[in-house]
Amino acid sequence: MKMSAALEKKFNAQITLEFESSMVYRQLAIEMESKDLPGIAAWLRHQADEEVVHANKFIDHLTDRANHPSIGAISAPKVSVKSVLDVFEAALAHEQKVSASIRDLYSATDKAGDLDSRPLLMWFISEQVEEEATVDEIVGRIKLINDDGPGLLRLDAELGQRPAATTENAAG
Ligand code: FEO
Repeated sequence: MKMSAALEKKFNAQITLEFESSMVYRQLAIEMESKDLPGIAAWLRHQADEEVVHANKFIDHLTDRANHPSIGAISAPKVSVKSVLDVFEAALAHEQKVSASIRDLYSATDKAGDLDSRPLLMWFISEQVEEEATVDEIVGRIKLINDDGPGLLRLDAELGQRPAATTENAAG
């Protein structure tokens, strides 16, 4: 069933935020590449691709419901980082912002009685719990490393093992 124009606008804002998230991670990957940490850069780049998957999930949902997905103006990523800790703290803050936005979207659909979007939004609520936990754990481990070179190189090697994401919405 087609969603209301008001909800469509909110979903389109979420699509834009997911693309912005991709740009934030892409910029963070560039910062790590420039610090000769290719594994961490690769992890962040894969995350940038995963954010495009998220955007595509919302786009597909709107299309399936005969609504009109529309990508808004993407803000340039405001990234100012000096250390690996800064990078993941910036990522965590961004994920928290995205989680809040998803909760807001869920509340709006709930208020409107829009049941059709519930499975998708429940998926996103779980995904955000997972993403925040993953980034938070990395922040904790970086604090343990405490700028120790060999420790950072081990983390770099480990994060570099993350498999690449496809930007397609595999779940349909
Ligand atoms: Fe699409 Fe990392 O939130």
